[in-house]
Amino acid sequence: MNPVTEFAIEAHDIVKTFNDGKFTALGGVSLQVPRGEVFGLLGPNGSGKTTMVRILSTILAPTSGSATVNGHDVFKESDKVRKSIGFAGQFAAVDENLTGFENMRMVGLLNHLDKKFVEQRAHELLASFGLTDAANRRARTYSGGMRRRLDLAAALVASPPILFLDEPTTGLDPQSRQELWNIIENLVESGTTVLLTTQYLEEADRLAKQLVVLDKGKIIAQGTSSELKAQLGNTVLVLTFQSPTDATKGAEIIKDISSKTLNIEGTVVEMTIDKGPSSAADALRRLDASGIELSGLIMREPSLDDVFLNLTGHKAEEVSPSAPTKGRRTRKVRS
Ligand SMILES: Nc1ncnc2c1ncn2[C@@H]1O[C@H](COP(=O)(O)OP(=O)(O)OP(=O)(O)O)[C@@H](O)[C@H]1O
Ligand SMILES: [Mg+2]
Repeated sequence: MNPVTEFAIEAHDIVKTFNDGKFTALGGVSLQVPRGEVFGLLGPNGSGKTTMVRILSTILAPTSGSATVNGHDVFKESDKVRKSIGFAGQFAAVDENLTGFENMRMVGLLNHLDKKFVEQRAHELLASFGLTDAANRRARTYSGGMRRRLDLAAALVASPPILFLDEPTTGLDPQSRQELWNIIENLVESGTTVLLTTQYLEEADRLAKQLVVLDKGKIIAQGTSSELKAQLGNTVLVLTFQSPTDATKGAEIIKDISSKTLNIEGTVVEMTIDKGPSSAADALRRLDASGIELSGLIMREPSLDDVFLNLTGHKAEEVSPSAPTKGRRTRKVRS
């Protein structure tokens, strides 16, 4: 029986060092993941997301710290933890030489589940993930999106109450990503707890109730998406200048209007402001007085991307080799 605990996952002060202690991948991370919701673990490349997920799913032993998953001690009761979880890794772990159906059956058998049950479950899951037509084709003929769906379906064969998803949609096209989001939302509606790592903040914003932002193995922010956004102020002022030189000059002129952040990207300057219209009017007056002309002005609400940029100094997707980059560099200026 599973002990009923308030939190699906609890981790205390997890430390993980590599290279004989010379490199610290996790420098004391604590988490409490409530049951029945998506918990987002965000962070740039190398911040320790996969390491944390691997420790919680018993694949990797930590250097120190303690954790429970579904009420079971991750280190002393790893068998029970493994029975409570499903894991879809950062790179889809499907066997290319097996068909979709055979992949599902293999996972069921590895989990010592009844053959009849597994076959029925495989058909159900393949159907709900839109893979019925491809069920008898070898996975090597699948597209990236189909592999991800198959990998996720395989993680669900044993109906685990807790699911670890490590960057489940990285590299997927927008439509496949949307489909996967719907699947995740349905799972959570039916009671599954999901620990999701992602570099797509839109994904975290849409799916996750609580978020933790990791940087260099430490938690640098946590809360709900709205709490994190509220730290930034009410409004982001986006000014487009006629040249990058004008943007740099303009930024210098307006930077002390806000105590928050200001970023320059080519001809675009983005600044977080507290007093929306009056701060914007102030910026316009100053630019007008100095003779710098604007070619565009937008005011918008802060996004999780702004939060991430503010906290880590770069955009979430910018540094990922596997995620599409916008091919532009961002300079961050603190005012
Ligand atoms: N087995 C290992 N030996 C040595 N260093 C490691 C090992 N595994 C991970 N690391 C290092 O630990 C740090 C954290 O890695 P991790 O894979 O957890 O980051 P991540 O946040 O998942 O990054 P990404 O977004 O690129 O997937 C990195 O600097 C990585 O190089
Ligand atoms: Mg990773």
